[in-house]
Amino acid sequence: MIITLLGFMGSGKSSIGRRLAKKMDIELIDLDDYIEKKEGKSISKIFDKYGEDHFRELETQYLKKLVKSDKNLIIALGGGTPCTDENWKYISKTTSIYLNRTEDYLFENLKSKKAKRPIIKDLGDKQLNKLISEKMSVRSPFYERADIIIDLDLSKSAMTTIIADAIKYN
Ligand code: S3P
Repeated sequence: MIITLLGFMGSGKSSIGRRLAKKMDIELIDLDDYIEKKEGKSISKIFDKYGEDHFRELETQYLKKLVKSDKNLIIALGGGTPCTDENWKYISKTTSIYLNRTEDYLFENLKSKKAKRPIIKDLGDKQLNKLISEKMSVRSPFYERADIIIDLDLSKSAMTTIIADAIKYN
């Protein structure tokens, strides 16, 4: 079984992924970390040197590879990964879970975590707020294709328990 975690930057995919992996005793792969490891470069470096389009090609290539591996895995996707029909060809073969957070939550959480994220690293708070809102309106319909949508702003441990149950009964 492959479980994919979807959601905007700062929604908690990686940290909830780590908790879920421990609880379910399954391996977790964070797609951004995986790309960095395979390419030997940080995401920021890939964006700077080769541009976003190249990063998106890598994202698709590694997503496809991981889904085809058919292992027991949790994959924490990047915030932009679910936003193409092509990537949904692979995501739809997994049990997909969308962590739907409010824009206020995303803003508060991302304010102090811009540095490693090329799309927001140079933005002031006002611009960040605007970007979240603009991107969420484009991305929500893609995120909402997920099998399971979790739209609770609970603690990470409570969210992990709810997600593990939702997977069991899905
Ligand atoms: C991106 C989100 C990032 C990373 C890249 C682009 C996006 O992942 O893949 O910087 O387009 O939303 P996180 O959602 O893990 O921050």
